[in-house]
Amino acid sequence: NTLYFYEETGSTNIDAKRLAEEGAPHGTVAVADKQNAGRGRRGRVWQSPAGKDIYFTLLLRPDFAPDKASGLTLVMALSVAQAVEAFCGLTVGIKWPNDIVVNGKKICGILTEMNVEPGYIQYVVIGAGINVNLEQFPEEISKTATSLFLESRTQWPRAELLQNVLKRFEYNYEVFLQTKDLTGIRTEYMKHLVNVDKQVRVLDPEGEFEGIARGIDSSGELLVEKESGGIVKVYAGEVSV
Ligand code: BTN
Repeated sequence: NTLYFYEETGSTNIDAKRLAEEGAPHGTVAVADKQNAGRGRRGRVWQSPAGKDIYFTLLLRPDFAPDKASGLTLVMALSVAQAVEAFCGLTVGIKWPNDIVVNGKKICGILTEMNVEPGYIQYVVIGAGINVNLEQFPEEISKTATSLFLESRTQWPRAELLQNVLKRFEYNYEVFLQTKDLTGIRTEYMKHLVNVDKQVRVLDPEGEFEGIARGIDSSGELLVEKESGGIVKVYAGEVSV
C-alpha cells in the first residue's frame, strides 16, 4: 500500500479523492503534517497546525452496496479508540457515531465522503484528525476539545500512533467484511460508547426529541429509548448530551 505524505496540503480528504480519481488502489493513505483547508463535518473548519497532530485519509474501494458504507466510519472510530487506548494508556470513549473523546472532550473527529454510482461504490474516503501533541487550544474550543498531550502530559510519536490506528483498522475491516455490518465489532464498539444509558438529544431531520441511548444495532444505528417508551433507531441525526 502506498502512503502519500504531504508536509503541507489543503485537505487530505481532497488529496485522497484526487488520488482515487487517478486510479489509486484500495488502501491508499494520504497523510499531512499541516492542512490549510482542513474540514470537519457540517462544513466546519478543522484547525490543522503543523508539527503537532495527525491528519490522514484512507481510500477504500469496497465492493458492497452503498447503504452499508456508513458503518465504515464506526469501524474507523473504534480503531482510533482502541489504538489510542493501547498506545497512550488513556481511557477512550466514542461519542456516537464517530467522535473520539477523552475525559469528556474530543480528541478526534472523522469525516467520511463517498463517490457512489447507481448501485455501487466508486470509492470511500475516511479522513481523521487526531489531536496528539497540541499544547493549547483557543479558549472557545478548549471547553469541548483536548489533546493526548493535555490528557497525559506526554508527547507521543505520531507515526507510530498512526501505524497502530491503521493496523487496527485493517483488522476491524476484515471483521466488518465477514457480515458487511457491525455484528463482529459491535461488542467492542459498545465498550467505548459513552452515550449508553445517558440522556441524548436527537437532532433528527424529522424533529428534535430526547431519550436514553441504549446502544447500537448491527447496522450502526443508535438505539434510543423514548420517554414515552419504545425504542427508535437513529441514523442521520446528530446526538448531543
Ligand atoms: C469532525 O468534524 O469531527 C470531522 C473532522 C475531520 C478532520 C480530518 S483531518 C484529515 C481529514 N482532512 C480533512 O480536511 N478533514 C479530515
